[in-house]
Amino acid sequence: MISGPSGTAPARLPELPPAFSLIALDSVGSTNDEARRLAEEGAAHCTIVWAGEQTKGRGRQGRSWTSPRGNLYLSIVLRPDCAPSEAAQLSFVACVALGEAISSLAGSRVEVTYKWPNDVMFNGKKGVGLLLESKSTPAGRVDWVIVGMGTNIEHFPEDARYPASSLRKEGAPASLVPATLLQELARQLETWLDVWRKRGFGDVRAAWKQRVQGLGRAIEVRLPNETLTGVFGDLDRNGALILTFEDGRTRTITAGDVFPQS
Ligand code: BTN
Repeated sequence: MISGPSGTAPARLPELPPAFSLIALDSVGSTNDEARRLAEEGAAHCTIVWAGEQTKGRGRQGRSWTSPRGNLYLSIVLRPDCAPSEAAQLSFVACVALGEAISSLAGSRVEVTYKWPNDVMFNGKKGVGLLLESKSTPAGRVDWVIVGMGTNIEHFPEDARYPASSLRKEGAPASLVPATLLQELARQLETWLDVWRKRGFGDVRAAWKQRVQGLGRAIEVRLPNETLTGVFGDLDRNGALILTFEDGRTRTITAGDVFPQS
């Protein structure tokens, strides 16, 4: 059972659409690790692992994700019938679903935008991180995709690489707690997974581009061994960032950290 924000009162369990199953844990190392274990044991499409806190939360590029009680930590097992090259599209499906869920609950004081690849920003500061992991079958199809999401509701790191914030700090109402956000997220995910399955990536990409920061502007992209500067030209048909250099050449970026260029 999940504890409430103070760690005392039990929180009410969210009501999810019938297609979803929920595994609610008080504390876990990493919901992604737990979801992965369950996926390997055959967990169904749309199984959600939700934890009140994580003791070994993981971020992108091997970083850790500090996970005290009060925020929303979850991982979703997805079993899309798609090619591995299309799996990254699901992180945009999840990003749009979460962005819409937050936007509908957080009120007008919180402007929700996206930062490539899948960060959700609250008034320009990082409020959500997504971690996508996947496995393919020997036949070259996707076996499972795990989408891990950490949303800063009560807490945020003061010393993050990119300025961070929480929904509470930005003025979200007290009614927005992990259980209510999870419930709305599942509703939105059902919608956006359906859009993706029936109409492809185009509509998801369009929805993501409506809220993205920095499109058409000068950005710096930090890669493990180099830093590139150019204009954020577009998002390609699989979700990669197209960086346009001053001389008109372009480069397709599939992983990296994006910063606005001052
Ligand atoms: C990032 O580096 O921005 C991604 C952070 C992803 C954190 C979430 S919290 C739930 C899930 N479990 C993890 O261990 N990580 C993801």
